[in-house]
Amino acid sequence: MIFSKIVGTGAYLPPQIVTNSDLQKIMETTDEWIQQRTGIKERRWVEQDKAVGTSDLALEAAKIALADAKIEASEIDMIIMATLSPDHDFPGTGCFLQPKLGLAGIPALDIRQQCTGFIYGLSIADQFIRSGTYKKILLVGAEIHSRGLNKTTAGRDIAVLFGDGAGACVIAATNDPTGSRVLSTHLHADGRFAKELWIQAPGSAYAGPWMSKERVEKGEHFGAMNGKTVFVHASRRMPEVVLEALEANHLKLSDVDLFVFHQANLRINEMVAKQLGIPEDKVFNTIEKFGNTTAATIPIGFSEAIKAGKLKPGMLVATAAFGSGFTWASALIRW
Ligand code: ACO
Repeated sequence: MIFSKIVGTGAYLPPQIVTNSDLQKIMETTDEWIQQRTGIKERRWVEQDKAVGTSDLALEAAKIALADAKIEASEIDMIIMATLSPDHDFPGTGCFLQPKLGLAGIPALDIRQQCTGFIYGLSIADQFIRSGTYKKILLVGAEIHSRGLNKTTAGRDIAVLFGDGAGACVIAATNDPTGSRVLSTHLHADGRFAKELWIQAPGSAYAGPWMSKERVEKGEHFGAMNGKTVFVHASRRMPEVVLEALEANHLKLSDVDLFVFHQANLRINEMVAKQLGIPEDKVFNTIEKFGNTTAATIPIGFSEAIKAGKLKPGMLVATAAFGSGFTWASALIRW
């Protein structure tokens, strides 16, 4: 039997810190409102006048993950890239990352599952490794949200939530059925809610051109969200999908050593923890410092938890995410 195992992790956050009071200078908001509703104190944004793309952040995280795994980039068989803020509309950001790593020729697959992208990517990597097709896969979640936000009062409900950042994992084949490995992944989607959290334009779904001045003027190229609906569904689906993963592995909540959830909103994670009855010290959050970095939150969480001494070899880790689509997913990992 072949299993997959996370053998290296890395995170890269751009150095520029944007605090809630910095946002207060460009839109009508307050530190108190943001902290109370979301738990966020600051986030990172790339310098807006510098040509830095999502693949550049991904590259930095990937280099750290490769060094952590103690392997050369040349050993990687495939790249899986999760992002909703690509370098360009096409080709995928994985294709921009690949030559930066000197890996021309290997497959580079982009996936568009937004906040759930990392766990969907982990599941895809797991299937390729279990089938014996590939031995080492680089999985990256990275976002530059700061260029796509409406940074005025009209966009404040969304602009205050998001940050830039990247996280990466090297996933490798193992034959050890009891050691460090991905136990299982569980994926879901319900497209009936696709328009509750989305960017409408550009797109092919309209009469007329792919993009127009009118659509830009209406702000359709900015993310739009029904925050209350997202909150309700996220706090229901995340506990559900964690329990699904535990049941599939005949494990109990008390067997889990650490929960590394997607970082959309601290209040969502508090609600999830409360519903599951998880003690606070078993949930690792980074949202206070980095905001919501969408596809990057979970690998950043792994890296930061290791750095903080909270995530150690042998631990049972549960991860879950919810996001646009709606999509939701979980994974259980023996670290
Ligand atoms: N600063 C100050 N006031 C604000 C801001 C802001 N940044 N944004 C909105 N407001 C105002 C609104 O205009 C509104 O004012 P009004 O009462 O005069 O009309 C008031 O605050 C309340 O707005 P609501 O939208 O009702 O605020 P709510 O309590 O729902 O909180 C929030 C908004 C935090 C987005 C909440 O709905 C939420 O957490 N939703 C979950 C969605 C989420 O976290 N998404 C992240 C991305 S998706 C993902 O990763 C899963």
